[in-house]
Amino acid sequence: MSTIDSASLQPAPRQIPAIEHTAISGMDAYRALVAEAETDHQAFWARLAREHLQWRRPFTKILDDSNAPFYKWFEDGELNASYNCLDRNLAKGLADKTAIVFEADDGTVTRITYQALYHRVCRLANALRARGVTRGDRVVIYMPMSIEGIAAMLACARIGAPHSVVFGGFSAKSLHERLVNVGAVAVMTADEQVRGGKTLPLKAIVDEALAMGGTVAVKTVVVYRRTGGRIPWITQRDAWLHELEHAQSDTCEPEWVGAEHPLFVLYTSGSTGAPKGVQHSTGGYLLWAAVTMKWTFDIKPDDVFWCTADIGWITGHTYICYGPTAVGATQVIFEGVPTYPDAGRFWQMIERHKVSIFYTAPTAIRSLIKAADANEAVHPRSFDLSSLRILGTVGEPINPSAWTWYAQHVGGGRCPVLDTFWQTETGGHMISPLPGVTPLVPGSCTLPMPGIDAAIVDETGHEVPNGHGGVLVIRKPWPSMIRTIWGNPERFRHGYYPDDLGGKLYLAGDGAIRDRDTGYFTITGRIDDVLNVSGHRLGTMEIESALSAHPSVAEAAVVGRPDETCGEAIVAFVVLKTARPSGPDAKRVADELRAWVGKEIGPIAKPKDIRFGDAMPKTRSGKVVRRLLRSVAKGEAITQDTSSVENPTVISQFAHGL
Ligand code: WTA
Repeated sequence: MSTIDSASLQPAPRQIPAIEHTAISGMDAYRALVAEAETDHQAFWARLAREHLQWRRPFTKILDDSNAPFYKWFEDGELNASYNCLDRNLAKGLADKTAIVFEADDGTVTRITYQALYHRVCRLANALRARGVTRGDRVVIYMPMSIEGIAAMLACARIGAPHSVVFGGFSAKSLHERLVNVGAVAVMTADEQVRGGKTLPLKAIVDEALAMGGTVAVKTVVVYRRTGGRIPWITQRDAWLHELEHAQSDTCEPEWVGAEHPLFVLYTSGSTGAPKGVQHSTGGYLLWAAVTMKWTFDIKPDDVFWCTADIGWITGHTYICYGPTAVGATQVIFEGVPTYPDAGRFWQMIERHKVSIFYTAPTAIRSLIKAADANEAVHPRSFDLSSLRILGTVGEPINPSAWTWYAQHVGGGRCPVLDTFWQTETGGHMISPLPGVTPLVPGSCTLPMPGIDAAIVDETGHEVPNGHGGVLVIRKPWPSMIRTIWGNPERFRHGYYPDDLGGKLYLAGDGAIRDRDTGYFTITGRIDDVLNVSGHRLGTMEIESALSAHPSVAEAAVVGRPDETCGEAIVAFVVLKTARPSGPDAKRVADELRAWVGKEIGPIAKPKDIRFGDAMPKTRSGKVVRRLLRSVAKGEAITQDTSSVENPTVISQFAHGL
């Protein structure tokens, strides 16, 4: 738990340059919405749900809290997410509007209108139905950033089949674990993925995962031909996406589902070794995706929105697949990486596509600052970024210096920088500045969204005064919240509504502090064993179990170390079954272990630093002394009391990097 106490951690808020005609017109309008939600929480959400979504059958019940924390929202209402994201736009006269501008890794641009996207989704939905996928069946999507990836998600939504998108950077083993856990009946993938000039054989990885067993329910593998590279093929099971589409009608009656019908399951890391399948609903989730597009991003008909996330993460679900389409926006999506062919790629794309709202991760900004400092040609000032009006960040804390650089060099001092705090579990923004409303403070996510009842409490669930650190909780349920953990409702209840806090508060898992004067929130970091590496959530236990699975590893402990670029870097402490290696031997073993973790989980989980010792520093009761390891990882001198450590001598062995 964070225990930072400070009279005023933050500098005074700066008023942002005025931005005209925003969805929420100013602080008074914001306060009025907050008051509306406080006066009648349910009526507030019901009003939004009626205004922002199109219901096939209107709901009569708003919130059912009789089985808390398994809350239900708008339960007897019926709708379809893909209908709301596609058909509704056609009916509004947006058929010819560009829905997606896709820029491939090599710079090739493909545009698709809402009309064309609608037809593609319908064909794909029909194809899935023709292959026997029906309402309630789970479909795993392991695809690159592409129009096809988004169409795949919307096609699943159209037929009421919850999707589970797995990030292309996860290994066959991780993919297998998710396929089994979610009980998938079909997989949608691509022959290969192309990023940063390199290809990754997605289809071959799918085959490898399916060969691991336990995935008998998978009857269909749909393959999008991205590169035309040679791939393995199983005739009975595999089908080309373009051939399936070709054979189908371009309209498709949507499956009308209840608002609580699961729209998707997305796996994320927690404090145990096994990733958890966060299950979201259709109605409540889609509602907040649409509303936050308007409130936070102030999306307007002529905006060009670009969120640089991948569909494998929640940000790519809410602010690529569902949010922008639910409001009929034009968005840019990008196949590649920010540094290819050079670190000017983002700025060049903003200029090329006249992006007006840009949403990215602090890690990307930090790495681009370094590159821009070293090379004027990739500095944002070498590009025309005058189309930008709003900037956002997400995924991890942004340090004030990166914030200021982003505001100044990318936003030209004109654009508000919105530091949006939220999580896979929350579905959409929870605490964020609003453009034209909130005076900004670099490094602070400022104030809760209207309707979101955020607070900071101590270990017993009592609110702490402003200026005192504590844990972040949400006191009232909200429509886009996690519904359960797939197949493990008890883990959901204990993990997110812990008894220690009284069982009625949603525990975000982050420490936070509110400014004494403004009440602004600053997130101080995770309070559990979850690392945030380049904005990606990774559980230390997952990496530890991957390392321990290596035949020569006796024991492993993993901690995070603050890192200038990635936010946090993974440091692994390893005890081998054989003698402690040294010199070139140690380097060789470390490289082997890194490659092993890449295979077990995926390249994003490879430890940056691996240290070897004869034994793990443990208390007499056998607990690994993590606080010591954290200090060792940071290279700090050990000033802490080590008298409770059984074997303090090993600490100095671990202190030396390779
Ligand atoms: C962290 C990403 C500080 C936090 C949408 C949270 C942040 C975790 C911010 C969720 C922010 C996200 N400032 N920290 N603006 N946004 N985080 O599930 O620790 O991938 O709990 O969702 O990222 O990560 P997730």
